[in-house]
Amino acid sequence: MPEAAFTPRVFSGIQPSGNLTLGNYLGALKRFADSQNEGIDSIFCMVDLHAMTVWQDPDALRQATRLLAAGFIASGIDPEKSILFNQSQVPEHTQMAWIFNCVARMGWMQRMTQWKDKAGKNQQNASLGLFAYPALMAADILVYHATHVPVGEDQKQHVELTRDIAIKFNNDFGQEFFPITEPVIEGAATRVMSLRDGTKKMSKSDPSDMSRINLTDDAETIAKKIRKAKTDPEPLPSEAKGLEDRAEARNLVNIYAALSEQSVDQVMTEMGGKAFSEFKPILADLAVDRLAPISGEMARLMGDVSEIDRILARGAERAREIASPILQKTYDIVGLVGAKG
Ligand code: AMP
Ligand code: TRP
Repeated sequence: MPEAAFTPRVFSGIQPSGNLTLGNYLGALKRFADSQNEGIDSIFCMVDLHAMTVWQDPDALRQATRLLAAGFIASGIDPEKSILFNQSQVPEHTQMAWIFNCVARMGWMQRMTQWKDKAGKNQQNASLGLFAYPALMAADILVYHATHVPVGEDQKQHVELTRDIAIKFNNDFGQEFFPITEPVIEGAATRVMSLRDGTKKMSKSDPSDMSRINLTDDAETIAKKIRKAKTDPEPLPSEAKGLEDRAEARNLVNIYAALSEQSVDQVMTEMGGKAFSEFKPILADLAVDRLAPISGEMARLMGDVSEIDRILARGAERAREIASPILQKTYDIVGLVGAKG
């Protein structure tokens, strides 16, 4: 398909479940702000319906959705430039998801790593929504004809499934209707690792709070977590290659590179030969410098949630203006009578 047939458009989503971490910031939020600032048409979504695929306390879900919206705005996503909303308020997502439930195959879903991880040994007891989750994610993306999806490494497989759904739909109905979306996984911090174990992803669901930096942590907590981060006894190497077998050291360097907007090689030139006792305070200062304004702005926004609610409502209206005609056209293509295609 000629790429030019689709205007470049970025879409991404984050689940409102618990706190945001440095991993979310570097792997997602910061890059969202960058793409918006490059002038690309950008749509960002708090995927509350995805969060519901595992049990959520209703009040906690409301709170997490607003806190996530505050995190987006505080990280530099401008609700005037980008479209910012919560998924449940744009019904076209679930309407499109039904069509995709009928396109996607059981076997495709069964191969999803996130499904296998989250359902674990107890698949019979997992919700049907958790299994169908990737079809809703494909709908999130394709109901806007989004061409690019910035995500962390862990979401690559879901974006590939989105491509498979688009390809099958286009083939089945004989039209190049959906774009073949590209995952955008770049930068030094596509996979920020736990501060306690360099082989595990930094995650809001890790039982140890010391394993992650939360965007709501204060300066002292951030500094303490970095000081206590697991490392090895060697000084930093002067080339990126020297980090290959040193997962914890590599993680801290990647974090430094992403926060300071440098390549890993540049960081190694600057920091090579330093012991962790020297490097960690430098990293902690940088992290506090970059993250403190974000947590401050999040706290300010959470002080008056009516402003957040207004921003989300307006975002949902703007999102529907794009999604509605694409859904109607899809309905028409598949033969649903009454569609305004
Ligand atoms: P989640 O918190 O799993 O809902 O993820 C929301 C977004 O943040 C997705 O784009 C993830 O790929 C990204 N993300 C989450 N954790 C990390 C991490 N440790 N490193 C990099 N990106 C991450
Ligand atoms: N599945 C993503 C996650 O768990 C969240 C998500 C839902 C998403 N819909 C999306 C990400 C669309 C990118 C595009 O992190």
